[in-house]
Amino acid sequence: MSSIAVYPGSFDPITLGHIGVYRRALGLFDELHLLVVHNPSKTPTFGAEQRMELAKKSLIEAGVSLEKLRLGLLEDGLLVNYCKSIGATAIVKGFRTAADIEYELPMAQVNRDIASIETLFVPAEAGLGYVSSSLVKQVAELGGEIDRYVTQSVKTALDERFKS
Ligand code: PNS
Repeated sequence: MSSIAVYPGSFDPITLGHIGVYRRALGLFDELHLLVVHNPSKTPTFGAEQRMELAKKSLIEAGVSLEKLRLGLLEDGLLVNYCKSIGATAIVKGFRTAADIEYELPMAQVNRDIASIETLFVPAEAGLGYVSSSLVKQVAELGGEIDRYVTQSVKTALDERFKS
């Protein structure tokens, strides 16, 4: 039986922090779905299709193998229902600080309660623990340097999005 996991998020846009988590979780599963999820509490900068495309391009640019990659989109409904529909038994989440764990832990517990899906927390890579999509967007919008936080594709997309 193959082991399947889902790495969900807004990925608006994907950062090198996300890519580090994806890369490190890869070795643990036979398939790792990168799932772009609509989060109703956020207004996205990029459309869902573009977020998926940027995620795939960025993984290629970062030299991550696509062999185990499956790209998905969840526009509404429960994450655990998506997991069940593809036979996934685990959710992968990255965390940067204790605040991330505090935010994620209740979701992990509820997901286990209602669907017996476990959550695996992968720590952010050293040096990327403070990177978030929203911070990167803010710096890009104000004309700052973001090369160390994102791939070239994402940088180009942000330049395009924020050009005046
Ligand atoms: O990158 P984000 O926006 O922090 O990701 C959060 C996300 C989208 C993964 C989370 O909000 C989620 O799992 N949404 C799916 C809906 C769902 O299953 N909600 C119940 C969680 S217990």
